[in-house]
Amino acid sequence: MTKATKVETMIWEGGVDGYLDLIDQTRLPNEMLRIECRDVETVWEAIKMLRVRGAPAIGIAAAYGVVVGLQTVPDEDEQFFARMDEVVNYLASSRPTAVNLFWALDRMQRQSASLRSELPVSEIREKLIDEAQAIHEEDRQMCHAIGDHGAGLLADVDGVLTHCNAGGLATAEYGTALSVFFTAQDRGHDLHVYVDETRPLLQGARLTAWELMQRGIATTLICDSMAAQVMREGRVQAVVTGADRIASNGDSANKIGTYSLAVLARAHGIPFYIAAPSSTFDLTIESGAQIPIEERNATEITHGFGRQTAPDGVQVYNPAFDVTPADYISAIITEQGIIRPVNEAKIKQVLGFA
Ligand code: MRU
Repeated sequence: MTKATKVETMIWEGGVDGYLDLIDQTRLPNEMLRIECRDVETVWEAIKMLRVRGAPAIGIAAAYGVVVGLQTVPDEDEQFFARMDEVVNYLASSRPTAVNLFWALDRMQRQSASLRSELPVSEIREKLIDEAQAIHEEDRQMCHAIGDHGAGLLADVDGVLTHCNAGGLATAEYGTALSVFFTAQDRGHDLHVYVDETRPLLQGARLTAWELMQRGIATTLICDSMAAQVMREGRVQAVVTGADRIASNGDSANKIGTYSLAVLARAHGIPFYIAAPSSTFDLTIESGAQIPIEERNATEITHGFGRQTAPDGVQVYNPAFDVTPADYISAIITEQGIIRPVNEAKIKQVLGFA
């Protein structure tokens, strides 16, 4: 690990023998450390341990992880494509919920398969770096477009609530939910953002509050359990979060606690928005019931950040995500436009699959 000099969440350094350099987000906000991922095991571990996290960022890291994982095999067709399958399956086992991971791996695999009969392995390697960089760059553009589409929804809003981290750290740049706030700021609209700390791993407190403060946006941190009171006091007039996987009917998985925010927003007559790129939609599944929900280690709750806060041997349930039913979502902000009302027909129309 080296002390960081750059602030990009992820950088590909070098050519076909290069490596993925990323911010270790588990160390923020206290330390800005970067990790050099020179083998696929390091990429897998970084995704699993949330050193790189957030649906789009996981997909980008996995795409570069494929390039790194193929560096260990010679330029021989059979071995190269056998290794490709191995690397893709391995990276796919890192985290189950964010569909961007599988979307990016599928894109890398299809790109290599389409070139198999046309190019030697040495050239396919270069094309795979191009593909990973295209995924990275497209995400950057999608995030900016989400901000452009979403900022207008907050025109009459002073205070807004967000959950987890859907910012630049979770994406190539600018974020999804945070892109909406950043774009509003770019247009001269000063929002006051309330940030759920986001138990148990505190992505809101550690990452979102840090990103917003770096941008000079008015930021107030609250415990997750304070959201209802903040809404009742009229401090926020909208909720905006990201998503990890959106089903055909609009049901949306996001960080645990998002569903309760949507229910609270409905109870207080406040709009609840999701901001997500098209790479977060999984149109192979009908509803949120089919979204796999990651369960994480009990120690995240019993020994958060190294201190024991629960009795030895207590039973723990630790789902990392929940699913907000489409009916509770006022609109989904995508790079292609705003999906409202949230239903299958409108999703297909806005995403261009109608
Ligand atoms: O467990 P994490 O930190 O990867 O969860 C991240 C989230 O839930 C984000 O809100 C989501 O991935 C959208 S990021 C643009």
